[in-house]
Amino acid sequence: MEPPERQTMDPLLMRPVGWVRSPFHEISEIPKGPGAEHTAEGVLEILPELVAGLTDIEGFSHLFVIWVFHRSEGQELLGMPPTDDRPHGVFATRSPLRPNPIGLSVVGLVRREGNRLHVSGVDMLDGTPILDIKPCLSSVPQEKLRRGWLAEAEARRGKGTR
Ligand SMILES: C[S@@+](CC[C@H](N)C(=O)[O-])C[C@H]1O[C@@H](n2cnc3c(N)ncnc32)[C@H](O)[C@@H]1O
Repeated sequence: MEPPERQTMDPLLMRPVGWVRSPFHEISEIPKGPGAEHTAEGVLEILPELVAGLTDIEGFSHLFVIWVFHRSEGQELLGMPPTDDRPHGVFATRSPLRPNPIGLSVVGLVRREGNRLHVSGVDMLDGTPILDIKPCLSSVPQEKLRRGWLAEAEARRGKGTR
């Protein structure tokens, strides 16, 4: 008999609620590293049968998009991010090489056309499966945010990055 805490180790089945349409077809096309800015526009195409779930979304300026790194393979528990020359744990980074290949992006909502959300700030490849969308409501005041190793890496480089 499995101990109760292990029962949740069973694989979890999820289905995409839609797909990202993005100008990026290759990983090398997506800006990364110090100072990288994500300004590209794209479309979140939600399954037509789920369109009722988009009701009232227009009022939000920004959305969290939860998605799958469907083109990454394997995990790297300690890795070198493009913003530093020192390794960091995967849970302290946004690396695509994760035990569960889940991505999280904040995008700006430009407009909605039926089941299509036009957004800005995409950093996903074209065809990326979307698991969920939620309104972005940040409740952490700027002065309380600590940026960990990233702030230290920026200080070592002698300049700020986002
Ligand atoms: C550093 S990750 C950050 C993604 C997201 N903002 C996050 O924090 O989870 C962004 C990188 O993931 C990679 N990427 C984007 N879409 C992908 C996909 N569908 N499959 C695999 N890698 C992807 C690209 O290399 C891109 O530069």
